[in-house]
Amino acid sequence: MSPIGYFEVAGLRLRADPAREACFTVVRRDAEMHEYGGSDATARREMIHRHMSNEVTSLDIAAQCLADFPGAPWELRLELSRQCWDESRHVQVLYRKLRTMGGRKGEFPVSAFEWNVTCAVDDLVGRLATQNRTFEAGAMDVVGALAPALRDADPEVAEILEGILADEIQHVRFANRWIKRLVELDRRLLLKVASAVRFLAQANAVLQSRAGETNAVGRVLADPADRVPAVNVEDRQLAEFSDEEIAEILRQAGFRSLVRAGGEGVAQ
Ligand SMILES: [Fe+2]
Ligand SMILES: [Fe+2]
Repeated sequence: MSPIGYFEVAGLRLRADPAREACFTVVRRDAEMHEYGGSDATARREMIHRHMSNEVTSLDIAAQCLADFPGAPWELRLELSRQCWDESRHVQVLYRKLRTMGGRKGEFPVSAFEWNVTCAVDDLVGRLATQNRTFEAGAMDVVGALAPALRDADPEVAEILEGILADEIQHVRFANRWIKRLVELDRRLLLKVASAVRFLAQANAVLQSRAGETNAVGRVLADPADRVPAVNVEDRQLAEFSDEEIAEILRQAGFRSLVRAGGEGVAQ
């Protein structure tokens, strides 16, 4: 098995793309993606295809952590193994749905950005801070709003997303617990967490689309700062973010939070 290399963008050293079947076109920037933004059949297939691909990437990242850090505590390795199992189920359920919608693997470009960034980090605590505590926690915000919004139009998709969200809470929670535990044992690891978070911010600055940029299907993209989702406070609490951390995340999101009333998610 040949080692997975690195590539450079604007002075940043990112991990080379993971292996993908030949049917997939892997792109590096969100402006190269086919996110339509509408709700017609093609836009909905692309949305499912994109989420499916992100689940594959989550699986790759958790599995690569197991391979790269054989000396990690057994209970943490067990959590990462369970995460692999969860992510593989998420891929399967979304792929099944994609096919019932007339879609197919590789129908739209995919990105492995989360892998490119996370797997460029050389320490496990930094990877947990990047993938689980940042990317997956951010996905909780997105899915927390998306699932109720789709309930009327496509109840099956809403249910699939809600099932996935329940698992994601645990992926974020075990990372929060283990980061805390590992930092208590060795305070120097806090520096690793901070540098991983800074590295992610730098990668975002390089690869995120700019305000007004047009993506590959002609959609004009908003400023990334305006695309920060409303915060899923309830699930972030379940994932054991502290009140202070949630307050800071809310500040970054312009104090918009997701409020569930009668099972509906409403951004406020
Ligand atoms: Fe997942
Ligand atoms: Fe996950």
